[in-house]
Amino acid sequence: MPQAFYITTPIYYVNASPHIGHAYTTIVADVLARFHRMNGSETYFVTGTDEHGDKIAEAARQAGISPQQYADKISAQFRALWPELHVAHDYFIRTTDKNHVETVRLILQKVYDAGDIYFGSYGGYYCFGCERFLTEKEIVEGKCPEHGKEPQYIEEKNYFFKMSKYQDWLIKHIKDNPEFIRPERYRNEVLSFLKEPLEDLCISRPKTRLQWGITLPFDENYVTYVWFDALINYITALGYPQGENFKKFWPVAQHLIAKDILKPHGIYWPTMLKAAGIEPYRHLNVHGYWNVEQGKMSKSLGNVVRPLDLKDKYGLDAFRYFLLRDMVFGLDSNFSEEAFVQRLNSDLANDLGNLVSRVIAMAVKYCEGKVPPIDSGKKESALTQAALAAVAEVKASFADMSLHKALIAIWDFINAVNKYIVEKEPWTMGGDPAKKQELNSIMRDLLSSLHAVAILIFPFMPQTAGKILKQLGLQEAKEISLASTGKSESLISGASLSRGESLFPRVEMPKTKVEDTAQAAAEATKAEIDYEEFSKVDLRVATILEAEFVPKSNKLVKLKIDIGEQRTIVAGIGKDYQPADLIGRQIVVVANLKPAKLMGIESRGMLLAASAEKGLALLTLDSKAKPGAKIS
Ligand code: MSP
Repeated sequence: MPQAFYITTPIYYVNASPHIGHAYTTIVADVLARFHRMNGSETYFVTGTDEHGDKIAEAARQAGISPQQYADKISAQFRALWPELHVAHDYFIRTTDKNHVETVRLILQKVYDAGDIYFGSYGGYYCFGCERFLTEKEIVEGKCPEHGKEPQYIEEKNYFFKMSKYQDWLIKHIKDNPEFIRPERYRNEVLSFLKEPLEDLCISRPKTRLQWGITLPFDENYVTYVWFDALINYITALGYPQGENFKKFWPVAQHLIAKDILKPHGIYWPTMLKAAGIEPYRHLNVHGYWNVEQGKMSKSLGNVVRPLDLKDKYGLDAFRYFLLRDMVFGLDSNFSEEAFVQRLNSDLANDLGNLVSRVIAMAVKYCEGKVPPIDSGKKESALTQAALAAVAEVKASFADMSLHKALIAIWDFINAVNKYIVEKEPWTMGGDPAKKQELNSIMRDLLSSLHAVAILIFPFMPQTAGKILKQLGLQEAKEISLASTGKSESLISGASLSRGESLFPRVEMPKTKVEDTAQAAAEATKAEIDYEEFSKVDLRVATILEAEFVPKSNKLVKLKIDIGEQRTIVAGIGKDYQPADLIGRQIVVVANLKPAKLMGIESRGMLLAASAEKGLALLTLDSKAKPGAKIS
């Protein structure tokens, strides 16, 4: 029987337009859903909007329209955004949907009939931002720390859910199930909160104060508290109580949230479920916050970054990759355009993009543009083993929600394939008929590796995966399955290869005007020198004999050069040049620079390069010279 996987995002408030934070959670959910689907699980992915409550009523009042009109408008923005981000959810829920209203009333009645809801009076400090009463401990210097506003003292008669009754059960459940709330820091946070006696939860609002909500089934003068309403969306979406989906997916339910809404999900929701006689969810996955540093952006500098705009500027897959690669799940991260561009140029343009274009170009050249046949006599290649090891690592990383580690494992594999090319030097075999079989076999391994890369990156960058598969002569529509990774049959022998456009063209690092000015000032202040000083620099022509990446560096390349004698130099050109493309080139080297050690390798000399439009450009000669020839 196939495994099942159910993932939810928070349902977002419709009082503000979507931003990077909402995009992150929803893309993570999409990555998880795609991964589990391609790993053979039947998958269900739900997102939606949270539309009742004070906050929305207030925003609508300010906009001068009805809450329903307001909710319709913003909910539509969320709904329209997800396909733009290639988020493929199965169900979009709105808390104003009829089926949801019915489910909320059903649960309320159930809990009321069981005697876990009572009528009482309560006075407390209410934060409208959090839409809940704050405990004394939560109020810092008279304000809600989350919203920076003073909570209001409110006293009124209301309905209460006996949450306190389930405190001991909840503590035991969390302790018995270490993975119930994860990562551990958030589990500990909930447990520490539960050290204090738990208060009952006020679950209604009198209609005299708020009408925009679901009317209680047992008292029409009250509407339901927005959190009690919203959390229930997770089971409405599965057709609770009778739905087939509920039976199939609820036992494996996983929620995805950021740390801001830990308490309602870690405490209210499991106790509500318990009271309603429903099993708790399986995992609550909690991530940190993206901080967009306002300090670094200023309108007067013209460098204001709206993170969601960057997907249009640099491409959606690069955007998805950056979000998933840069945030360690559970911790906060700072969003910066510079960090984004750096990853785009190094990981995507240099490592992944170049690998794909090189392998396809070589295969087109050496294998008549077709996938070569399987070399039946050959034992499993080192690359197949590396692909399978990457699959195992990726699976383990997904199992414990370390998604950035999954990407690291995939990039280790990409780098291993790049290294294999340097070691095997397929370009040296091209013209030699005696080496044809060996060359075919190497190329088949390389093409299979591209297939593995495409499958592994699919959850993160579905579009790029499709483009790679297409270049490999596979139908884009072909079912993506993790199990096909590392299998020789996953390629079709004889299928036509096609060279595509560069997957990730390099982009220029955005510069702040401050940096521009500083650089211009620095350039202007270089002092004049006379010829004697200049002649101290011993510039020579060198021929590159060998080139390879320095292990663990994506920038440094180790070169063996002939400069009249053989020498090793280390150059920071790895983001702009592939080692294999350097061999045989003649360059200009400062021969008498004092030796320096770079990543443990002694470099005897320095090559010259210019900052060009698309990165570094090597200084080369326009006709051949003898290695070691003097430049003056
Ligand atoms: N409506 C409630 C959730 C009810 S779920 C039953 C709500 N909505 S919200 O619009 O405020 O969304 C909060 C969620 O948006 C966070 O938990 C997180 O998923 C996402 N994010 C909003 N800002 C964020 C960041 N700056 N960084 C990361 N994610 C954040 O709370």
